[in-house]
Amino acid sequence: MNFNDKAVVITGGAGGIGKITAKAFADKGANVVLVDMNPDALASTKEELGLGDDRILTVTADVTNEEDVARFVAETKAKFGSLDVLFNNAGFEGPFIPIKDSDYKTFQKVMEVNVYGVFLGMKHALKVMEEQGSGAIVNTISNAGFIGSAGMSPYIASKHAVVGLTKTAALEHADTGVRINGVAPAAIDTQMLGNIEKNMSPDNPDNIENVRKQIQASVPMKRYGLPVEVAQVVLFLASDEASFVTGATYPVDGGSLAT
Ligand SMILES: NC(=O)c1ccc[n+]([C@@H]2O[C@H](COP(=O)([O-])OP(=O)(O)OC[C@H]3O[C@@H](n4cnc5c(N)ncnc54)[C@H](O)[C@@H]3O)[C@@H](O)[C@H]2O)c1
Repeated sequence: MNFNDKAVVITGGAGGIGKITAKAFADKGANVVLVDMNPDALASTKEELGLGDDRILTVTADVTNEEDVARFVAETKAKFGSLDVLFNNAGFEGPFIPIKDSDYKTFQKVMEVNVYGVFLGMKHALKVMEEQGSGAIVNTISNAGFIGSAGMSPYIASKHAVVGLTKTAALEHADTGVRINGVAPAAIDTQMLGNIEKNMSPDNPDNIENVRKQIQASVPMKRYGLPVEVAQVVLFLASDEASFVTGATYPVDGGSLAT
């Protein structure tokens, strides 16, 4: 896979999966644009990646704010001359609360980041990609896009929604040279999974190690996945090697969805 001189935008670029995927793209020659709402994490990610200023752009932006989204797309074009890949990856796990005890605003917040953020990223990137006659988008979904999970209604609903958005965007662009796919990770060892572990044992932080073991035991491969194992599939979906793949979502979950 070769991404020489391609401009690759990664939202949630300062998070666990985003950062490692940025490194994988950069290792294959891409120029990377890291978008995140956390400016400190963006600065430390930029330092860790060690790319020269000619190969990296960091943009502090909230993916739920349309002006921010338009800005990171415009800044990408201005700096690198194109937008070749969008990894629409920013996400938020939300709280663990049964539906009957949930409130509108909490539900809305998760939907805004995980669904509206993906929608806005696609909306603005697709205009550029359609003009170019080329491009690839990979949306981060989750096995939560295909199964239910008691207590996680906004996250589950949001990821199911992104499966539908991915298929629809793919059909709208199938004959334009632009492909849109999804990647569906599960149990990947990042900050988000750490938050989920804490949410599963809110009253007993000493129990976290047991929670980790329980989750790992539920994965057919009996372990957590690594961000790089997601990155490898993202790169494939974004590459010319996947030239006949669109509207698909690929699990990266140690066999979880197969159960
Ligand atoms: N870790 C897992 O097990 C797992 C499993 C399935 C799906 N996912 C999905 O993978 C994606 C990345 O998650 P991760 O595990 O790397 O988590 P993470 O918490 O390490 O990273 C998420 C990043 O998104 C950023 N972000 C959140 N809201 C944002 C917003 N409104 N605007 C801009 N940036 C925002 C955060 O600042 C953070 O840097 C998410 O979409 C998540 O739902 C993760």
